[in-house]
Amino acid sequence: MPAIPLVDLKKQYQPLKDEILGRIGEVLDGMHLFLGEHVQALEREFADVCGAQYGIGVSEGTTALWLALRACGIGPGDEVITVSHTFIATIEAIALTGARPVFVDIDPVTYTMDISQVEACITSRTRAIVPVHLYGQPADMDPLIDLAHDYGLRIIEDACQAHGAAYRGRPVGSLGDAAAFSFYYSKNLGAYGEGGMVTTNDENIARQVRMLRDHGSNRRYHHEIIGVNGRLDEIQAAILRVKLPYLKAWNEARRNHAAFYNQLLADTPVTTPVAAPYVRHVYHLYVIRAPWRDELQAYLRQHDIATGIHYPIPCHLQRACRDFGYRQGELPVTERIAGEILSLPMFADLTPGDIRAVADAVRDFYRQRVTAVSDRSATEDEGRTTDSLRLSSSVAHHF
Ligand SMILES: Cc1ncc(COP(=O)(O)O)c(C=O)c1O
Repeated sequence: MPAIPLVDLKKQYQPLKDEILGRIGEVLDGMHLFLGEHVQALEREFADVCGAQYGIGVSEGTTALWLALRACGIGPGDEVITVSHTFIATIEAIALTGARPVFVDIDPVTYTMDISQVEACITSRTRAIVPVHLYGQPADMDPLIDLAHDYGLRIIEDACQAHGAAYRGRPVGSLGDAAAFSFYYSKNLGAYGEGGMVTTNDENIARQVRMLRDHGSNRRYHHEIIGVNGRLDEIQAAILRVKLPYLKAWNEARRNHAAFYNQLLADTPVTTPVAAPYVRHVYHLYVIRAPWRDELQAYLRQHDIATGIHYPIPCHLQRACRDFGYRQGELPVTERIAGEILSLPMFADLTPGDIRAVADAVRDFYRQRVTAVSDRSATEDEGRTTDSLRLSSSVAHHF
């Protein structure tokens, strides 16, 4: 493991270890492994955190989104408006219903859905909008809710990266018709395996998701609709219940880390993340935009600092999405930032020393870069201004 990993959950586990192992032991002693007391309790407890009436535990976030869409009546022939700058699971869930994803570009500052582009994409086939609360930052929901109301559309929040985030004081998970969460291990609230949850205030959607996740049935061997095996298991639910009370403090730690990074990186050429004034951002990821991104990533790797790119190829340009009919150039902000973004280490147990070390390495990289390029430019013919030279002069003024 690198000296500073992108995510390290070992430290989080240590103080919880006895309790978690105790709960796992209890589940195994009881041998009630599915849809038992822990799943039911977690559904209530997590729905509470989201300000939602119902929570339905499912096998992972992709299934949460898929079943939420299905419960909202989305199916073949429908169109669902979403973003391309997201993890592919958002698109998979839409495609799995038989609907077609329609992509809008993102806001260049927040990296969430550019709401101003949504209305122009609405057709007679549009049935739903899936905003993604990417990196832990809620999308701008109120104008979207107004649009959905005007056009009779459903809103399904992709909140897989945003446990505990809020929009204008309202928690994500209760802002649309339904919301999907992932408990993938590295999420702000993560299981030690797979897990997910649908939250909703709509009793009918809750009932449908409950059936869909369990082979379309409410009563054993009585199948009302075609569903799936999409249940959350008791062991994961028991683990998540131990962790849930810490979510708020872990999110607070992430927010403090982000503020410290912002402060330390302010005098470098990178663009630090911007939290919209109306959100409580929970920094699932801390994503900067960086000149010479790939070189910076390699430099940090050499200095034993792990980073990630979330995500290097926009969904509309993935081979898997070729049948949706999008071409390069159609979503310029999404396409541009895919080449510039870099996720720096971010997890609750990151230390101020780690953050300082990462920021120092970023600063050193640009210092060396500027020196190297200006040395080279002194020996080159005048007039041969390359892109990197032009970039270097804009970078140089930071030092
Ligand atoms: C934005 C987004 N949507 C959906 C998912 C799917 O969640 P899961 O991996 O639990 O299926 C993820 C998680 O990776 C995600 O980040």
